[in-house]
Amino acid sequence: MNLNQQAIHLKHREGASESTRYIAIASGKGGVGKTVLSLSVGKCLADSGKKTLIIDADFGLSNVHLMLGITPSKNLVHFFLGEATFEDIVVRVNENLSFVSSGNGIYELVKLPKDQILSLVKRLQELAEDNYSYVIFDTPPGIHDDTLTVVSSVDFPLVVTTPEPTAVADAYALIKIINKENQLEKFYLVVNKVENNHEAIKVYESIKLLTEKYTTATLTFVGSIRYRKNLIRKIIEQDPFEKGFIEDVYNILASMDTEVKPRKLSFWDSLLSRLLRR
Ligand SMILES: Nc1ncnc2c1ncn2[C@@H]1O[C@H](COP(=O)(O)OP(=O)(O)O)[C@@H](O)[C@H]1O
Ligand SMILES: [Mg+2]
Repeated sequence: MNLNQQAIHLKHREGASESTRYIAIASGKGGVGKTVLSLSVGKCLADSGKKTLIIDADFGLSNVHLMLGITPSKNLVHFFLGEATFEDIVVRVNENLSFVSSGNGIYELVKLPKDQILSLVKRLQELAEDNYSYVIFDTPPGIHDDTLTVVSSVDFPLVVTTPEPTAVADAYALIKIINKENQLEKFYLVVNKVENNHEAIKVYESIKLLTEKYTTATLTFVGSIRYRKNLIRKIIEQDPFEKGFIEDVYNILASMDTEVKPRKLSFWDSLLSRLLRR
């Protein structure tokens, strides 16, 4: 175990049983690095000994499998429709890391009768909590009802932006709408493709200013990721884990963990109440 791995204090309080934690990676604008970040976060957690599941919930531009060069034949929709077991849809990347494609699974789920939603969500909860310490959702960019539902229910809603003004404006817009529509109060910010941390802090401060002025949300800066010119080559080789990028992600995970607060509702209770409310 290297120093970075040790720096992540992932365990709950001494004596408390470890419960599954949920991370959603979201952005206003596309192309800011959500998928690469989802994969790297998954890899860092898995390499730290945590069983981790990535759910590719970007039904429009489902990319996780393309970056890994593994194409699953079945997804969450098949599971919801009873056409596949959970084991059928989980793709193993390595001993601790797996992923599932959701297709438009959450949308399909919402269309089912409420008692069926209840039993499926309960089943998913059992599967997640029996098998994984972390579940990461790679979400589509922008403001979709289904994304908002997931993002509002997780322990760590992680908003990604780059320093580009359009990405920054869209990140703020996303925070504002989720705060207003779903009453989510706490957001985490990662600034990707920066030259240095100073540039990232300037971006954070500009979003924070607006967030404090026009919303009730608080924004926590959890770190930045430097622009890595080798990353594209790695992605082409379908090995999307770039050393420098991974180092930055270890630091992000370490600072996220210090912010953990007990939650009133579990991810699944929160998801269910939001799904059934619609
Ligand atoms: N830190 C970085 N340095 C260099 N290129 C990056 C970095 N993060 C992401 N990229 C590139 O940006 C592009 C979009 O990344 P991706 O993860 O697909 O974004 P999203 O999922 O938000 O649409 C990819 O080509 C990826 O190689
Ligand atoms: Mg993506």
